[in-house]
Amino acid sequence: MQTIISPSILSADFANLERDVKLVQDNGADWIHVDVMDGHFVPNITIGVPVVKSLKKITDLPLDVHLMIDNPDKYVEPFANAGADILTFHYEAIFSSQNILDLIKKIHSFGIKCGISIKPKTSPEVLIPYLDIVDMVLVMTVEPGFGGQEFMSDCAEKIKFIKQVAPENLIIQVDGGINEKTGKICKEFGANSLVAGSYIYKSSDIKKAIQSLKY
Ligand code: DX5
Ligand code: ZN
Repeated sequence: MQTIISPSILSADFANLERDVKLVQDNGADWIHVDVMDGHFVPNITIGVPVVKSLKKITDLPLDVHLMIDNPDKYVEPFANAGADILTFHYEAIFSSQNILDLIKKIHSFGIKCGISIKPKTSPEVLIPYLDIVDMVLVMTVEPGFGGQEFMSDCAEKIKFIKQVAPENLIIQVDGGINEKTGKICKEFGANSLVAGSYIYKSSDIKKAIQSLKY
């Protein structure tokens, strides 16, 4: 299976977002990764529902929305209606397993894919009860909040465990500090989707950068 490449627009120029989305779309991107931060769950504030709604009008690529927010259940409907195709929430933002199951059900009720993400300090074992019902697991290899941080290789080890216990068709995505070298490590461990912000957008040859992650 070819690796799904999801460039993070956090590293794009927000004053030229349409241009920068098309730039990766025309150069082999599979999805568009949208980092939503609320200033509570993570220390940074980025973008929200109106931006997703606008992006939907200018690209046909699936919008891979990464919710780094508290109370994600409150925002499922607005993001789904705005055009999110994959909605990923953080395990650490929900306080009971029943609530996690309800949230997964809610996301699926809009006919979109559901992802569950873990921060660097969270053990992959906590995901076991959900692996058969989510579409994607997102392993963070930096502390969520900012682009351009250094890849934490010990976090990537978690992919191996997830790959061993997960159903064959589960999408295992990695986010944080991904470049040609670290992406390769993650793929060897079993990742089949890579998010990359600064590596792609700071590259002088976007096509080459995306291809270097894909194959
Ligand atoms: C970080 C975000 C990432 C970020 C990745 O909290 O979830 O998606 O944009 O940026 P790079 O690829 O620069 O580490
Ligand atoms: Zn992200």
